[in-house]
Amino acid sequence: MLFLLSFAAPPPPSRFDRRVSVCAEAYNPDDEEEDTDPRVIHPKTDEQRCRLQESCKDILLFKSLDQEQLSEVLDAMFEKIVKVDEHVIDQGDDGDNFYVIERGTYNILVTKDDQTRTVGQYDNRGSFGELALMYNTPRAATIVATSEGALWGLDRSTFRRIIVKNNARKRKTFETFIESVPLLKSLEVSERMKIVDVIAERDFKDGERIITQGEKADSFYIIESGEVRILIKSKTKADKDDGNQEVEIARCHKGQYFGELALVTNKPRAASAYAVGNVKCLVMDVLAFERLLGPCMDIMKRNISHYQEQLVKMFGSSMDLADPGQ
Ligand code: CMP
Ligand code: CMP
Repeated sequence: MLFLLSFAAPPPPSRFDRRVSVCAEAYNPDDEEEDTDPRVIHPKTDEQRCRLQESCKDILLFKSLDQEQLSEVLDAMFEKIVKVDEHVIDQGDDGDNFYVIERGTYNILVTKDDQTRTVGQYDNRGSFGELALMYNTPRAATIVATSEGALWGLDRSTFRRIIVKNNARKRKTFETFIESVPLLKSLEVSERMKIVDVIAERDFKDGERIITQGEKADSFYIIESGEVRILIKSKTKADKDDGNQEVEIARCHKGQYFGELALVTNKPRAASAYAVGNVKCLVMDVLAFERLLGPCMDIMKRNISHYQEQLVKMFGSSMDLADPGQ
């Protein structure tokens, strides 16, 4: 069954509501007084710094920082060991820190209309706690450790001074492009800007594999420039006899997206994607995809149904996109 994911509801109304709407729209970190705050430094051993760098290497929010900004962020981060069942964040609280996961598993719980649902998990990687700091809103979810774990925290003031400032620059850089992406046209301007806040830009060289069929999925891609080929290993008998060759099934261009199918179906990647020439993509992680692209789901579902038709046309028989194999 396709489309298993349900999309997380917005945080419940609270006494902060007026502040929420004002700050989500009127977003000007240049007005912040925090620029004058002293630089935070938590000294670390070489071993700690190595572990910290390893934990942070795939964090999308850090990808667009320059070298100096990144080292200021890493200097300010502090280690936090958590116990099983510990609440790292409670929904409704004010935001104090942003967290990067070094190890451990964590549940994401959202309470709405007195009902608490688990809307996702973190499994030994990723980060959380950015929303309250970015938008001056109460915590939107509760994060509970389901194992012993280790986190790296970044204080609110450093986060706002560096990450939020950098996001203002990102908004200026990507605003025009993001507005031109057909998939995102139905979103409000403020929703599109929230997408810019969480995306990172990634470069791929000619022939580089961006997605591998059969692998676990954690990202969604929008092509900023260049061209991407989508290839599939056909499971029809003729192709099996032929060594399970990859066959090109689509080409995607600037403004188009790929990598949504596995996130929507919760299955491995249905095809592989390769760069044709130099390619720049905007990349979003799965949790941001679920949180921010709910309103675009109908368009994506419509396109997914075309995939199946296209495969029938090409291979003469239906392939089960919900079971992509290796
Ligand atoms: P924040 O609101 O600061 O604190 C709770 C964090 O949970 C939030 O930032 C996000 O980083 C994370 N989170 C993950 N998934 C969701 C979701 N569906 N809704 C809200 N917060 C989420
Ligand atoms: P995903 O399965 O996450 O990774 C491979 C991507 O290729 C897939 O998402 C789609 O975005 C893209 N794609 C394009 N055309 C097809 C197709 N006909 N069948 C499956 N995937 C396709």
